[in-house]
Amino acid sequence: MTQKEINIKYTECDSVDSLTDDDRILVETAVKATERSYSPFSGFCVGAAVKLANGEIISGANQENIAYPSGLCAERTAMFYANATYPGVAMETIAIAAAQKGRLCELPASPCGACRQVMAEYQTLAGKDMRIILAGSRKIMIFDRVDDLLPFIFDSLK
Ligand code: THU
Repeated sequence: MTQKEINIKYTECDSVDSLTDDDRILVETAVKATERSYSPFSGFCVGAAVKLANGEIISGANQENIAYPSGLCAERTAMFYANATYPGVAMETIAIAAAQKGRLCELPASPCGACRQVMAEYQTLAGKDMRIILAGSRKIMIFDRVDDLLPFIFDSLK
C-alpha cells in the first residue's frame, strides 16, 4: 500500500487592484453579471464571466426555477452559452462572484461540483488549462487549472 498526496496551489490577494487588467475586467464583468441573476428562492446572486481564446468575454448569472432542480448555476449558464456560441474555442479564464442583498459577498463563493465537472470537460476539450478566479470583496483566489479545484475528475468514457 502506498499513501499518496495531492498538493493544490492557488494565489490569494485582497483586492482587484492586485490583478492584471484582463483579470480585473473579467472580475468586474462577473460582478456586474450578478445583477442579472434570477434567484427569487435563494436570494443568492451569482455572476460568472468567461474569457475566451478569441478575446470574447461571455457572462452569465444563476437562473432559478420554482421546480428547484430545473435552475442552473451562473458558471454553467456562462460556459454553456460560450460553447454554444463559439464551439470548441478555449475558455482561458472564468471569474465568479456572488452578491446578497445587492452587496458583493466578502468571501469568494466556491463553485459547486457540477460546475467544476463542466469546467473540467471544457478544459480537456481545449487541451489548455482553464484558470478560475473566485472573487469576494475582501478576498480573491486564483487557481491555475480546474484540476486544482477538482482532482480525479470523471473522464473514463474516452
Ligand atoms: N449557485 C451558482 O450559481 N453557482 C454555484 O457554483 C453554486 C450555487 C447558485 C445556485 C442557486 O441559484 C443559488 O446559487 C443558491 O444555491
